[in-house]
Amino acid sequence: MPQDTPQREILVTAALPYANGPLHIGHMLEYVQCDVWVRFQRLIGNTCTWVWADDAHGTPIMLRAEHEGISPLELTERIKQEHERDIEGFLLSPDNFHTTHSDENRELAEMVYRRNRDAGLIVKRTIAQLYDAEKNMFLPDRYVKGICPNCNTPDQYGDNCEKCSATYDATELKEPYSVMSGSKPVLRDSEQYFFALSKYTDWLSNWTTSGTLQPEIANKIREWLDAGLQDWDISRNAPYWGFEIPDAPGKYFYVWLDAPIGYIASHKNLMDQRGENFMDAWQQDSTVELYHFIGKDIANFHTLFWPAMLDGADLRKPNGVFCHGFLMVDDAKMSKSRGTFVSCETYLKHLDPEYLRYYFAAKLNSGVADFNLQLDDFVLRVNADLVGKVVNIASRCAGFITKQFDGKLANTLPDDAAQTYQDMLNSWGDIQNHYEGREYGKAMREIMLLAEKANSYIADAEPWVRIKDENSRDEVQQICTAGINFYRMIVTFLAPVLPNLADKTETFLNAELNLASLDNPLLDHSIEKYKPMMTRIEEKSIQQMIDDSKEDISNFSKSAVTSGPLADEPVKDEIEYGDFDKVDFRVARIVEAKQVEGADKLLQLTLDIGGETRNVFAGIKSAYNPDDLEGRLTVMVANLKPRKMRFGMSEGMVLAAGPGGSDLFILNPDEGAEPGMRVK
Ligand code: MSP
Ligand code: ZN
Repeated sequence: MPQDTPQREILVTAALPYANGPLHIGHMLEYVQCDVWVRFQRLIGNTCTWVWADDAHGTPIMLRAEHEGISPLELTERIKQEHERDIEGFLLSPDNFHTTHSDENRELAEMVYRRNRDAGLIVKRTIAQLYDAEKNMFLPDRYVKGICPNCNTPDQYGDNCEKCSATYDATELKEPYSVMSGSKPVLRDSEQYFFALSKYTDWLSNWTTSGTLQPEIANKIREWLDAGLQDWDISRNAPYWGFEIPDAPGKYFYVWLDAPIGYIASHKNLMDQRGENFMDAWQQDSTVELYHFIGKDIANFHTLFWPAMLDGADLRKPNGVFCHGFLMVDDAKMSKSRGTFVSCETYLKHLDPEYLRYYFAAKLNSGVADFNLQLDDFVLRVNADLVGKVVNIASRCAGFITKQFDGKLANTLPDDAAQTYQDMLNSWGDIQNHYEGREYGKAMREIMLLAEKANSYIADAEPWVRIKDENSRDEVQQICTAGINFYRMIVTFLAPVLPNLADKTETFLNAELNLASLDNPLLDHSIEKYKPMMTRIEEKSIQQMIDDSKEDISNFSKSAVTSGPLADEPVKDEIEYGDFDKVDFRVARIVEAKQVEGADKLLQLTLDIGGETRNVFAGIKSAYNPDDLEGRLTVMVANLKPRKMRFGMSEGMVLAAGPGGSDLFILNPDEGAEPGMRVK
């Protein structure tokens, strides 16, 4: 194959997954897209290095660790192992998978910060922030919840609304409360560090229109630029899980400051292991090309903040930022209740990673539209293309070579096949351009056309008919040799997408697959006995995968519960401590208890909670005689909204537990307790 372009040196990154949960098939859309491009670059002889890491900092990770009762470091170390397992499972080929919580990243984040500070690009400003006066701490966005200022949905976090996707400042939430204590936050002044993004407006207007971005993204950025850029708050108050700012004790770098620097840190970590210099690639005049693969949700970080900070630190900028859309399953967002939120772990239990790699490639283009994984189409497409077209070529020809010709390929191709072989080889130019331009769908279509051509050649040549004629043996051997060579070429072209199939094919052919060797067909060469290279997807595997995903009651590496009470009645959605903390438990004295006419389960209680009495209907008739209750102390929920019941208003709830019937027990506080005391 002609190699007319000089070798390029390329550095590639994919977005760093947060180390607080498992990788899922949505992540894989990006990571497979990236992997195919990287493998393609290596296939055509470029030096392509993929540096990658886990994004280990920030509030959600801190909260998650707290929730599990472990340290953030323990959590991120465990998740990193799970991520590494899935990366291997999906045949991704990063050169390094590091973590942002590393010495390299601390050092580089400090360097980038200092350089920006010395260039006058860091400004200190005092701003009013929400403060929890009970817990004595400033509240990060995710520690405050309240009503969305845009659509009035309750219980939204302080940074954005899950319902309407509006982003806002935590101070804009209506009826805010602290997730830590449930109390109403107060405003308190706090000094923060800002990156002077506004000074970069003109520079970014140029940079974002210099051909580095996809047109859709460049337009979106145009809107932001026109609206005017705000300076960017890069600091967070303690407690925060991240790196402390060197000259500002008690202040930490916001996770999005050190996350992209994690790309450089992972590169440094790799080059240190290789004993090579990493910094050359990051200098302003570097000739190494740099590309970022990301989802469109994080475009602003990569096309505004990141290039500006790099420039402020006198470092090189990316040559391209490649955005993709979101993964949809059967035309809808991935959903846990529908079972379409599929973790990599669950996918791999039921299906071959190459099925999904191929389906992604077959439908991906260079745009930012969302990607629809249509499950029926997925099965049809993979079975028709990979099994029906590609692998079929080898399975139709290999048997003859093994059984009739002792595993030996012929020493020449039939004339017409030799011509077809050349034509097919010539189509690589187009296919290569499609790969390079991330138009994988077009590349796959071209390759499938080749597979169709190869199949019709075999169908027309009918080796299974000719073999019956003793005089046609040479022809049969040549026809099958042509078929095997078509197969070899097609699998070589598909190797960036299907690395396992390529490996198995190398074993089958006793030959290495690479572009240069395609110039000459494999002739007079012994191949191995054919073993099935890929099997059809079974509908039932898809169904099992979906069912399994429904059973994942939480997306955090709990093993799926398949039987027992938890399976019948799955644990309800997780609540924040703040939700729980809103419940006000009080000691109450039962001053009066009586039967309720017409009710089989209820007793009517008059409860004294110290200066206030409540009328409560409690479902404890089966277990208690009203006379035995009068005078006793118990515990009630004092702030439950009064509910109108058939027999009157119930103003609270008495706590009782037990299997039911006569085995039901109201809580019994200590003798020393007094009505009205709060129970913790
Ligand atoms: N930690 C940040 C990225 C920091 S990069 C310096 C982050 N992490 S993430 O885990 O939420 O997402 C990682 C990547 O996966 C992002 O590019 C995101 O767009 C992509 N995807 C996450 N869910 C996705 C889908 N459902 N569909 C397609 N891509 C998705 O963002
Ligand atoms: Zn909203």
